[in-house]
Amino acid sequence: MKLAIISGSHRLNSQSEKVANYAKNLALSSGLASSAEIISLAGNPIPFWDEGVWAGEERWQQVLAPIQTVLRNSDALIVVTPEWHGQIPSGLKNLMLLVGVPEVGHKPALIVSVSASETGGAYPVAELRMSSYKNNRICYLPEHLIVRKVNSVFNADSAENDAKAQEYLHKRLAWNLSLLQAYAQALSQVRATAETTSSDFAFGM
Ligand SMILES: Cc1cc2nc3c(=O)[nH]c(=O)nc-3n(C[C@H](O)[C@H](O)[C@H](O)COP(=O)(O)O)c2cc1C
Repeated sequence: MKLAIISGSHRLNSQSEKVANYAKNLALSSGLASSAEIISLAGNPIPFWDEGVWAGEERWQQVLAPIQTVLRNSDALIVVTPEWHGQIPSGLKNLMLLVGVPEVGHKPALIVSVSASETGGAYPVAELRMSSYKNNRICYLPEHLIVRKVNSVFNADSAENDAKAQEYLHKRLAWNLSLLQAYAQALSQVRATAETTSSDFAFGM
């Protein structure tokens, strides 16, 4: 599987990026992914959408081309999102406006949400599932991972980890990645055989 991992936090040194790196390393070391690239939104590298995108303006092509290349080359995605005031960050929402069927359409995507608290992390899963797929036709897996108390898991220094939570989430992430690989194989058949773009039905209902 050729994996593209979106790290949705604007913060530098974010927990989302920590988790994205952990998922990348696990996918590669387990042999489930042949390649894995992280697209990080740290520091807000992408301007907010404006109509120059639809006009194909050069300034937009320069910003989007590297991201489009990574996404178009992928056959599976992971979307890592923090919960910020019960929402996904605005930069991640913006990215979802900027990617389309050629990049993510009919490709499987695993949602991984991240929260520092004991109870957070469910809202961004619901938000991504509710609307972010409509026009770009990204296919979220029914399975997702919520990483609560994120500061105490997936740290490089195992002494910083809560051993029980770490074991559980590591195992569950490994299982999620194996599911993602199976979906990647299956949906590549869909993209190869079905008419996945239609000028009559360019937008989802
Ligand atoms: C602006 C902002 C709002 C936040 N709101 C929430 C929230 O609603 N629920 C929650 O569980 N955590 C919230 N947090 C804390 C995050 O869970 C915490 O920052 C965590 O490390 C994940 O974010 P990160 O990937 O940016 O590090 C918020 C953090 C920020 C920066």
